Amino acid sequence: MLSFKSEPQLTIKPVGAFDLGRLARLHKHCFEEGWSRADLAHLLALPGGFGLIARQSGGGFASLDSLRGIGFALLRVVRDECELLSLGVIPAHRRRGVAAAILQTSMQNCLEAGARTMFLEVAIDNLSAQTLYERFHFSRVGTRPDYYARPDGTRMHAYTMRADLIDALASSAAEAAAEASP
Ligand SMILES: CC(C)(COP(=O)(O)OP(=O)(O)OC[C@H]1O[C@@H](n2cnc3c(N)ncnc32)[C@H](O)[C@@H]1OP(=O)(O)O)[C@@H](O)C(=O)NCCC(=O)NCCS
Repeated sequence: MLSFKSEPQLTIKPVGAFDLGRLARLHKHCFEEGWSRADLAHLLALPGGFGLIARQSGGGFASLDSLRGIGFALLRVVRDECELLSLGVIPAHRRRGVAAAILQTSMQNCLEAGARTMFLEVAIDNLSAQTLYERFHFSRVGTRPDYYARPDGTRMHAYTMRADLIDALASSAAEAAAEASP
């Protein structure tokens, strides 16, 4: 019998010239304060700036969300350091390993671009993101008071987290292999 169902496939590709609107839509779905196309264009035009978009295909009739993108990362590499500027997955696709896949690809791409250390900021009340980063061997190296401005006018402190890319990717790969072995 013919079946049109296939396993969902995740692809993670660099942000292209025509992806700005898509990226702005994804960012708005993930954060209270969305970044405009102009904000995103500025970040991507910085020396060493780049972005990744995750799309999902297969698994029956793909939804529009899946074709347009379900998650993203924005990064910047400067010499041997890089920064994860933003990372998000739209709510309907969370807790399926999409952010983990985007983060791993981001770390690999930054390593290939010459970076050895990745930094990021995360709000101190964002426990889901902190758990994700700890799984990728990021550790807290500082606190930035009142770093984030919230739409309700309040401010939130952020932790600065840091990971050694070679060690973190090697540890993650070893853990994934151990989990996969019977
Ligand atoms: C944080 C975020 C990117 C996680 O995306 P995701 O695709 O759901 O994450 P994954 O499924 O890849 O999760 C990988 C691991 O991270 C941790 N994690 C992710 N979401 C979590 C949650 N809500 N609670 C606890 N742990 C969580 C878990 O360890 C998880 O592994 P597990 O599912 O096997 O337990 C997503 O919730 C999001 O976009 N949030 C809004 C934007 C944001 O906060 N971005 C980070 C800014 S610094």
